[in-house]
Amino acid sequence: MIDIHCHILPGFDDGARDMLTTLKMGKDAQENNVTKIVATPHYLCTPSDTNFVKERDRLINEVRKNFDEYSINVEVFPGAEVHLNEDVFFDNQLEQLTINSTRYLLCELDFFSMSIKRITRYFDEIVSRKLVPILAHPERYEFFQQDYSLVNYLADMGTLFQINMTSLAGIDSDESKALATKMVRNGMAAFLATDAHGLGARNMRMLSYIQSFSNVMNDEMFYKAVEINPQKVLNGEAVRTKFNHISRHGF
Ligand SMILES: [Fe+2]
Repeated sequence: MIDIHCHILPGFDDGARDMLTTLKMGKDAQENNVTKIVATPHYLCTPSDTNFVKERDRLINEVRKNFDEYSINVEVFPGAEVHLNEDVFFDNQLEQLTINSTRYLLCELDFFSMSIKRITRYFDEIVSRKLVPILAHPERYEFFQQDYSLVNYLADMGTLFQINMTSLAGIDSDESKALATKMVRNGMAAFLATDAHGLGARNMRMLSYIQSFSNVMNDEMFYKAVEINPQKVLNGEAVRTKFNHISRHGF
């Protein structure tokens, strides 16, 4: 499996708190059949993020060295989870925040105050810069849980979605599980990822619960979401999805 959303860098954001935690996450990843991880620390575009890319790349090299030393056979690639706000678009680091220097940008939204007008404006801006938005964990946002038509709208715009495995497994909340399940069943989940932040609730030990996914997706769909599509992203190749709109009732 290839995990395109993971807070594995030590002491950089609210993910792994130190190198020991990073090593344990790497070991868990290996034991759970993860071969590649994209390091996606939160990017908030605050003054303290001025040297974000430089520091991220330094830490990635540190992690790679440590994984080598401790025989952890997991490759680590650069990325970021970009918190969308006005400032991000005036930022000269934006192009360097993409996954593995491709055109794919992993984005997150404010959990509380986001209108669909603002969201679509942000995504329009991303697309106009010839970047491809991957929206992280749409199922976790209350405004999507309350209005599925917003998800359909973004899907029609060409947004790709990354669903958290823990949401699909029902570890987060009933609402996020319901939306994640609908999106997976309707072909909207281009990617499944861990969004692991350490060794706690969102971790790298997904083998304990992914069997339950067979209720909502077949093996081919699963393989596409954890291997084929993520590898296309790493290669900078096009990811195509065939989806149906979701609705509260029925499928
Ligand atoms: Fe995240």
